[in-house]
Amino acid sequence: MTRITTRSRSVEGKVVLITGAASGMGRATAFLFADEGAKVAVTDLGAERVAAVVDRIRAAGGTAHGVVLDVTDADAIDAAVAEIRAELGPIDIVINNAGIGAGSAVENPGFEDEWFKAFDVMLTPHQRIVRACLDDLKASGEGRIVNIASTEGIGAQRNMAPYTAAKHGVIGLTRALAIDLGVHGITVNVICPGPIVTGMTEGIPDDMRDTFARRRTALRRYGEPEEVAHMTLSLALPAASFITGAVIPVDGGLTAKND
Ligand code: NAI
Repeated sequence: MTRITTRSRSVEGKVVLITGAASGMGRATAFLFADEGAKVAVTDLGAERVAAVVDRIRAAGGTAHGVVLDVTDADAIDAAVAEIRAELGPIDIVINNAGIGAGSAVENPGFEDEWFKAFDVMLTPHQRIVRACLDDLKASGEGRIVNIASTEGIGAQRNMAPYTAAKHGVIGLTRALAIDLGVHGITVNVICPGPIVTGMTEGIPDDMRDTFARRRTALRRYGEPEEVAHMTLSLALPAASFITGAVIPVDGGLTAKND
């Protein structure tokens, strides 16, 4: 092993696949990795949304390839991974980020629909994407998987059971894969963002957002997508070689706060 002090703190030349990369945290992560010299596979719903991110990366001198990918479509995952491999090379880093709001009171007739929606978008695809990329991740020697869960993966809010259960599942999957894949030098970690200003939260009125942030977070504010992206980058570095199975809140102190 190289001396720890000389271990690489760069993702330059690494191929990174990001889901949900056309908005919010996924987009901020795509821009950051591209700025750092990674080759970025931008995947999301909507050709124009994907192209907008790819164009911006290329305009800034970065390398990106866009794929329209609905993560609920198992066949599309395999096709997307094959296309990314052909365009950018074998995949070194997987970031499972795509997500939706999926809440319901348990009494609601629509509960079951929300349940499966949450699991279909925010849990099942994670393992499918990892399995589709597994040969590449093994061959990389520095394979990295970063899953984006939520503080709802650690605690719970009212009427959010489908989302909360899926996000708890992401933490379980992360730990299980960390154990299974450690033998290949692949690390698997999960970030639990707190309240972040993204597409998912933009519909919440400013005063409600402010009240929530002041009451619930130590830093008394919502976070920016870039503040999560920087933790994702840190976990993807070659130097992060002994961090695996970790559950890392990026939440302004929400999970620490008990008053
Ligand atoms: P966002 O709405 O800005 O971005 C989510 C992206 O996922 C969108 O571009 C959307 O098109 C994509 N997506 C949705 N369904 C998809 C599908 N079937 N296939 C492919 N892509 C799909 O929201 P945000 O906040 O950036 O979400 C990123 C992740 O962060 C999600 O997993 C979310 O659950 C999680 N999160 C968000 C928090 C917040 O306060 N914004 C807090 C904690 C976690």
